[in-house]
Amino acid sequence: MKVTIVGAGNVGSTCADAIAFKRIASEVVLLDIKENFAEGKALDMIQTSSLLGFNTKIVGSTNDYSKTAQSDVVVVTSGIPRKPGMTREELIGVNAGIVKTVTNNILEYSPEAVIVIVSNPMDTMTYLTLKESGLPKNRIIGMGGALDSARFRTYLSLALQKPSNDIHGMVIGGHGDTTMIPLTRLASYNGINISELLEENKLAKVAADTMVGGKTLTGMLGTSAWYAPGAAVSYLVDSILNDQKRIIPCSVFLEGEYGQSDICIGVPVIIGKNGWENILELDLDSNEKDLFTKSADAVRNMNGALNSI
Ligand code: NAI
Ligand code: 2OP
Repeated sequence: MKVTIVGAGNVGSTCADAIAFKRIASEVVLLDIKENFAEGKALDMIQTSSLLGFNTKIVGSTNDYSKTAQSDVVVVTSGIPRKPGMTREELIGVNAGIVKTVTNNILEYSPEAVIVIVSNPMDTMTYLTLKESGLPKNRIIGMGGALDSARFRTYLSLALQKPSNDIHGMVIGGHGDTTMIPLTRLASYNGINISELLEENKLAKVAADTMVGGKTLTGMLGTSAWYAPGAAVSYLVDSILNDQKRIIPCSVFLEGEYGQSDICIGVPVIIGKNGWENILELDLDSNEKDLFTKSADAVRNMNGALNSI
């Protein structure tokens, strides 16, 4: 099973490393436009194989898409990241151009691939990829909810002082500081509803910290985060390649689900070998429905910016 990652920067290389280390794929191709950059990252990673115990073939490529041929999954992380003070949305002009070119190149060599979009603003880039490629909707997946949900579970784990693996919680809606919706009402610790374990104000703080999770790290690091984003992509790729059918919140094209159409936005989906297979329609309460509608309005507004590029 072969995975290509376009963009060998912070997120792309961390994701390649996680895929190799977890032995999710037999071959990983890292591609970047910077001369020798992806080759260097690949060589460095290959030199960890005897230490970490994996046999994954890792190939670096400077913009040579022939090396990506017949990939089962292609992850798009190429683009500029957020700097302190920037929103994800401010990246739209540059990243839209990059994502368009990259998608066309990918499809020339891997016409059957499932495409995972990471570049920001991710919901809009996912929508652009769908419209640009004309591919069936199930093969285009935006990665944001897997990361936001991991951050949600982390903040819950810190507040509860319990292991994050025992905590379940999902974040839906847009992948933006004000558009994501941590579903606090449905979060649980080993089957016990979180509201029985955390006071309302603490739960509200967990939700608020989750929503600015990326912004907090951008402020601390001077650029956007990569360990959790890379791990979140590997989690998604694992479910695709190994047909695990996990439920992961992802940005997918809605046609009436959750009362929305002609938009890519985060909802829980079943992820397997064909991409996303089914949307789970949660029974949202009126407040959650209202938040989802507002989130969709904001994402749709952002998509409108594509017309002027
Ligand atoms: P980075 O700057 O470390 O890496 C980006 C790489 O893309 C660079 O190495 C650059 O040379 C390469 N690149 C640019 N144009 C290219 C092209 N046309 N073809 C191939 N490669 C190209 O940035 P980082 O931190 O890896 O972030 C990448 C993107 O992912 C950003 O847009 C960032 O906002 C987004 N992101 C999204 C997350 C999500 O949850 N959806 C989480 C974290 C980052
Ligand atoms: C993140 O959430 C900025 O989307 C990026 O870390």
